[in-house]
Amino acid sequence: MRTETPVTIRLKDYTQPDYWITHTDLVIRIHDDHTEVESRLSIERNGDGELPPLKLDGVDQTIIEMTIDDVAVEDYHYEHEQLILQPSKAQFVFRAVTHIHPNENTSLEGLYKSGTMYCTQCEAEGFRKITFYQDRPDVMATFTTRIEADKAAYPVLLANGNPIEEGELEGGRHFATWHDPFVKPAYLFATVAGDLVRQDDTFVTRSGREVSLRIFAEKHNAHKTTFALESLKRSMKWDEERFGREYDLDIFMIVASDFFNMGAMENKGLNIFNSAAVLASEETSSDDRFERIEAIVAHEYFHNWSGNRVTCRDWFQLSLKEGFTVFRDGEFTADMHDRTLKRIKDVDFLKNYQFPEDNGPNAHPVQPQEYIEINNFYTVTVYEKGAEVVGMLNTLVGDELFRQGSDLYFERFDGMAVTTDDFVACMAEVSGQDFTQFKRWYTQAGTPQVDIEQAFDAQTNTYQLTFKQSCKPTPGQSEKQPFVIPVRMALLDQSGQELTIDCDGDFNADTQVLTLSQAETTVTFRGLSEAPVASLFRDFSAPVRVRFDRPEADVLLLATRDPNAFNRFDAIQQIYMDTILSLASGAFDRVPDAVNAVVEAALNDAELSHAIKATLLRLPTYPLLVDNSDTIDAQRLVAARDQLLNHLAVQYVDQWQSMTQSLASADPYRFDAAEAGRRELQGLSLQYWVKAGSDEALNYAEALYRAANNQTDRLNGLSAVLKSDDAGRKEALLVHYYRQWKDDTQMVENWLSLQTSATDVSVSQLKDLMQHEAFDLKNPNKVRSVLGGFAGNFKSFHDDTGEGYQFLAEQVATLNAINPQVAARFIKPLENWKRFSPERGEMMKSALSHILATEDLSPDVLEMAQKALA
Ligand code: ARG
Ligand code: ZN
Repeated sequence: MRTETPVTIRLKDYTQPDYWITHTDLVIRIHDDHTEVESRLSIERNGDGELPPLKLDGVDQTIIEMTIDDVAVEDYHYEHEQLILQPSKAQFVFRAVTHIHPNENTSLEGLYKSGTMYCTQCEAEGFRKITFYQDRPDVMATFTTRIEADKAAYPVLLANGNPIEEGELEGGRHFATWHDPFVKPAYLFATVAGDLVRQDDTFVTRSGREVSLRIFAEKHNAHKTTFALESLKRSMKWDEERFGREYDLDIFMIVASDFFNMGAMENKGLNIFNSAAVLASEETSSDDRFERIEAIVAHEYFHNWSGNRVTCRDWFQLSLKEGFTVFRDGEFTADMHDRTLKRIKDVDFLKNYQFPEDNGPNAHPVQPQEYIEINNFYTVTVYEKGAEVVGMLNTLVGDELFRQGSDLYFERFDGMAVTTDDFVACMAEVSGQDFTQFKRWYTQAGTPQVDIEQAFDAQTNTYQLTFKQSCKPTPGQSEKQPFVIPVRMALLDQSGQELTIDCDGDFNADTQVLTLSQAETTVTFRGLSEAPVASLFRDFSAPVRVRFDRPEADVLLLATRDPNAFNRFDAIQQIYMDTILSLASGAFDRVPDAVNAVVEAALNDAELSHAIKATLLRLPTYPLLVDNSDTIDAQRLVAARDQLLNHLAVQYVDQWQSMTQSLASADPYRFDAAEAGRRELQGLSLQYWVKAGSDEALNYAEALYRAANNQTDRLNGLSAVLKSDDAGRKEALLVHYYRQWKDDTQMVENWLSLQTSATDVSVSQLKDLMQHEAFDLKNPNKVRSVLGGFAGNFKSFHDDTGEGYQFLAEQVATLNAINPQVAARFIKPLENWKRFSPERGEMMKSALSHILATEDLSPDVLEMAQKALA
């Protein structure tokens, strides 16, 4: 762990490094009690004049030997985690031999042990735990890596690039040497040593080169790699067709690791994945998981261009690669499956996680201006809002020019470390548009709000829309300038038909996009004989909050007939949301008829796909409700949501039952959009049916669980039972599940999270679960299953005792010493304490204070806790 006082790093302070590293030669000798790393760095002065000191980042290493051009380095010092020495030449080879201890590395950054294998995670700043280096993304070198280890224990030795040599060594040891000819920053370095099995395939690129594809896993996971391999081939093909991007090395490898801080990592030619994000089988992976794995495999593969060939100049540019790559993987999933459904899910995700982030103490721009610990900025804002910003550029320039801009970007900056400005400049150049104002999306935090008013004039047959945009202050930014906001729109007549638009605004008739750039804009629409119903922000054309007070009849028309399925979804969700919040505040004492009208329209709509129908019938989640409330009374919110759920369950019990039964299928499992949609809708109707309270429904759920030949049906059955009050049945099924699946890591992770998120859970039950043989505080997936599941279980986390807050704080304090990056993530559930009722807010605040009072606080936890308390 780092012990230095944390310093704030600022974008405005960026300067180029004093030296470049042009080639990096590594020998990594793995031994049981330590690993020896020998590096040879070819270094060159950047610029001329007097030679400045060379500063190399390095932590947790023991220096054995150092030389410059074979002469021992005697004169150096070490401060602020940097080794500082004075070169006497402008070009030289720096060599260092150091010892590190991967077995004791619980931070899972740098080189560490995951189960039986060694692996690495270097983004953002893990390479400095492996060897002394200028560990910053603008320093790009070619790499040669030789790994040596015991042959019996570690028969597989991998690194970036192409394999060039392998052989035997004395004492039962062996080695392998890899060479990566593409320059890259150190954060893309990777190496793996293990007893791994692999599945092979090949891909022929569009220019006819044959690439070997290999997926490696520990033996117990061998049967779960096929789906990822198929996903990889689909990704490679799609990136050639949609973005003109071809793969460049002779080999592409993926390794599955059971201990991993995040989802996966795009190391050049050697992607390392969290096992949960790559290993799939129908018995152990739900449909959601299959879709997520396909998307993550694609995401990491797409980084080979958007991230690796063209990388980030500094970490403030993180969204350059992440926003763009999330956008790219989103397009991929939309093309593979169902575009509308993908959009609905993405927007739902954004509103559930990113809007609250923008609305809380950790709000930051897509391009942050400063940080203490960069690991804290791998956020939904940088990733998902960043992808929305790229999506808006696409909307503004159109598909064809967007592709041209992307081609220009890759061509112009290949092999370079660049900025978000460079990316936007390419889009400006190909389209001739000026994006100066647009770039506020990168620099201003917070979700803009658009307040809309309408007026119809029957005399002149005109209709007016007035848009007023505003954005609440966020930490460090009290005033916001107007954003450029693309509004994809239609005007509908009373039957839901789209009318032709003739207006005086900045409206593009080809794309049906109206662009707003002023604080206030009034647009007049001509030639309308009756008042239209405006369908605005179609497909969520901008990440904004919309306030539009309009007649209920208009909202009902959109919720039942808008031809844009996304907007229909959005209108229905608005009705559910208003209903729940009004029940909670006491403004309503019963569910209004409008809800029945939209639910019936959705239930009876024969045109809708099962998947879309399910999205229309699902109630808003707690994070969404919380984000839309000014003050939060947790238990009233629970009661209100439950009241609506109950109402729908009872009112439509016959439909839920018949839907559940008619959607059953005995066909063999198939993962595709249609089948996943069927299972999704069946799972949802089963939940409503069980909620209505009959034993028949509960028996059906248990039978579905017991007879399941795939994980989706199994979870549908089990979750429905876990939501009931049949304690005996719940217990029996959980015991049965564990007995059957205790040797399967992914299934055990699910088992843990079901108990903390799918049913009511108390702090004492959590403590017991953490004593269970299946739990391991050093394993991030297990921690996320238990603590993450609990923190997302609104009813239990915010129960009347408030014990959950203190419990979470204690876990963060313990984790701080084990894995700071993971620990810091669990501060978020407490950060909105100011918006809860005063008594509850105090309890949450005191939990945060407890965290801040922990000794030896990591910069990760310190930064998050300080912000949350500010
Ligand atoms: N670049 C990886 C991805 O999004 C994520 C790496 C995150 N690592 C970290 N230390 N925060 O594909
Ligand atoms: Zn990424």
